[in-house]
Amino acid sequence: MADRETWATRLGFILASVGSAVGLGNIWRFPFQTATNGGAAFLLVYLVAVVVIGLPAILAEFVVGRRAERSAIGAFDRLGRPGWRAVGALGVFAGFWTLSYYSVVGGWVIRYVGASFTGAYFGAPNEYFGAISVGPEAVAFHAVFMALVVGIVAFGIEGGIERATKLMVPSIVLILLGLAAYGATLSGAAEAYDYFLSPDVGAIVANAPSVVPAAVGQALFSLSLGFAVMITYASYIGDDESLGVDGVTIAATNTFIGVLAGLVVFPLLFTQGVSPETSGPGAVFVAMPTALSALGLLGRVLGLAFFLVVLTAALSSAISLLEVVVSYLVDNHGTERKRTSAVLGSVVFLLGLPSAWAEGWLGWFDSVAVGLLLPVAVLLVVFFVGWVMAEDAVDELRTGAGDRMDDLAPAWLWALRTVVLLAVVGTVALSLFNLTGAPV
Ligand code: TRP
Repeated sequence: MADRETWATRLGFILASVGSAVGLGNIWRFPFQTATNGGAAFLLVYLVAVVVIGLPAILAEFVVGRRAERSAIGAFDRLGRPGWRAVGALGVFAGFWTLSYYSVVGGWVIRYVGASFTGAYFGAPNEYFGAISVGPEAVAFHAVFMALVVGIVAFGIEGGIERATKLMVPSIVLILLGLAAYGATLSGAAEAYDYFLSPDVGAIVANAPSVVPAAVGQALFSLSLGFAVMITYASYIGDDESLGVDGVTIAATNTFIGVLAGLVVFPLLFTQGVSPETSGPGAVFVAMPTALSALGLLGRVLGLAFFLVVLTAALSSAISLLEVVVSYLVDNHGTERKRTSAVLGSVVFLLGLPSAWAEGWLGWFDSVAVGLLLPVAVLLVVFFVGWVMAEDAVDELRTGAGDRMDDLAPAWLWALRTVVLLAVVGTVALSLFNLTGAPV
């Protein structure tokens, strides 16, 4: 077989993965999950979950992808286990489901880009968010966001977005750092840091049944796991590269950006007198205007910059979600790229209508995705790597990694088989228990 194409540079792969990982999950979902789950207690459990579960799990997806040199669904065939294709299929379905409400939030971001010009959100941020987040206008902006995603995927012009990602990650960090510094000067800062950064261990133990699955889910979601995206990306990594080093780099960058978003959002919320518990999915959208309105015209410029960067991050993630399905159909079933993108995009749009139309649905779609579909998909991949391809997996992780992995790789396998597997099973069980019915 001819040599398969690999990433031109190591940095290219890392940036593409970071571009997929960094998105609304870090800037919108992380602060809002932290706020709903008790602040610092959530942060601590989340950090532990990234290291103990997220990192081994991302390496599991890398190992499958690089070993098979195939994207998600084909990977299991190639590894001689066609029965496991269902795992790839579940991942693709989960991605679909997630994109439906992700796009609604993306629509809010577009809305806020426009509102930054006029300063419409300055006067009463909480009320403004309440008015635009559901209803006909939310549907319209959801349509605009999905149309952008479809357009980019249809013309196969992600190259442009990938180039934008290289700029995006540093700009996100710079803007967030600036805003965090500004937040530190505000009157609500002390209270906010206390809320976000000093965990009350008693509260963690008392609320473990809800905090732990939420934190594990956030860790997996934020690292783009379970949707077969990392398997696909890793299928292009060369054998001379250390998967372990790449995994640590990606996980660390991604986590850093989430925590930084928290350092921005909480001081602003507390200063505005909005309690984090009640802010819900609006946390970042209510917090930002607070900072910006104090700055007059400069506030509008900064608001524009901020929401444009968030839009780029959201688009790059949404594109990789849609691209996985489109390229699978195009490559394996010979469908035409433009039509496939448009049809799939329309289905995603329809699926997102409840989330855009009435309050409560977005949260429900999100808890089904992150509480159920995602951990089940990750569970299957972890089981597959830990028990079905065990020896090959250790060998693959050691490939290109130097001596250090001689001990670490078997330890990783052991962790996958025990701690990671149990933790993900526990997450699914608790999420099922916590999941409430649809908000009909
Ligand atoms: N990690 C992305 C974010 O934080 C969301 C996401 C989850 C994703 N799974 C994905 C993006 C798969 C691309 C592909 O916003």
